[in-house]
Amino acid sequence: MAAALSLECSAREPRPWSNEIALYFESVVSVARPAGIEDAAAIARVHVASWRTTYRGILSDDFLESLSEKRYEERWRRSLLDEGTRVYVAEDGREVVAFASGGRERAGEHSFAGELYAIYVLEEAQGRGHGRGLVRAVSAGLRELDLADMIVWVLRDNTRARRFYERLGGIYIRSQPVTIGTAVLEEVSYGWRSLDDIQA
Ligand SMILES: CC(C)(COP(=O)(O)OP(=O)(O)OC[C@H]1O[C@@H](n2cnc3c(N)ncnc32)[C@H](O)[C@@H]1OP(=O)(O)O)[C@@H](O)C(=O)NCCC(=O)NCCS
Repeated sequence: MAAALSLECSAREPRPWSNEIALYFESVVSVARPAGIEDAAAIARVHVASWRTTYRGILSDDFLESLSEKRYEERWRRSLLDEGTRVYVAEDGREVVAFASGGRERAGEHSFAGELYAIYVLEEAQGRGHGRGLVRAVSAGLRELDLADMIVWVLRDNTRARRFYERLGGIYIRSQPVTIGTAVLEEVSYGWRSLDDIQA
C-alpha cells in the first residue's frame, strides 16, 4: 500500500506523508498558551480525569468518583477571572490535554513569594514535554507578577511528580500534613530560590 502511494507522487501534488508528519509534530511539540474563560470546562475535564489517574490508590475511590467537572468548572472560572492567578493550557492538536496555574505564594511558606499552584497533564499525554512547557509558562507568569522564586507542594506519595520537580532542579524544602476530603496525608514542598534556577 505504501509503495502504491509513493508511486502516485508528483512534483505538483502534496506528498502523501506530509499530513502524517504534520500530525506527528503536532503531537510531540507542546505549546502552552494563557488560558481564557472559555477554557474553564476543558481545564475542569483535565483536572478531574488527571486526579482520578494520579491519585488512584492514594485517595479513596469514593472521593475520586465524587469529583464533579461542573463544580471544578465553576472554580476554574473564578481563578481565570482572578488577576493574581496565571493559568495556562497545553494542547495536542486542538484539544486541551494539560494545564498549570501559579501566583503569589498562598500556602504559608513565607520564605517564597511565588507558587506553582497546580499542574496536570492527562495520563495519555504525559512524557511529551507538556509539563516542562507549562512550568516555563508559569515561571514567565510569575515574573510578570514580580515574583522572583517558586515553591510547589506535592503529595509525598506522588513519586512521579516529585521526580519531575527534581528533574527541573527543585530543592526539597519540607513536609507537612494535608487534609484532602476526609483523608489526612503528607505533602512535601520543592522550591527554586530564583526563577532562573528552574531547568524547564
Ligand atoms: C508530573 C507531570 C506534570 C510531568 O509532566 P510531563 O508532561 O509528563 O513531563 P515532561 O514530558 O514535560 O518531562 C519533563 C522532564 O521531566 C522528566 N520526567 C517527567 N516525569 C518524570 C518521572 N516520573 N521521573 C523522572 N523524570 C521525569 C522527563 O524525562 C523530562 O526530562 P527530559 O526532557 O530531560 O527527558 C505529569 O506527569 C502529570 O501531570 N502527572 C500527573 C499529575 C501530577 O502528579 N501533577 C502534579 C501535582 S503536584
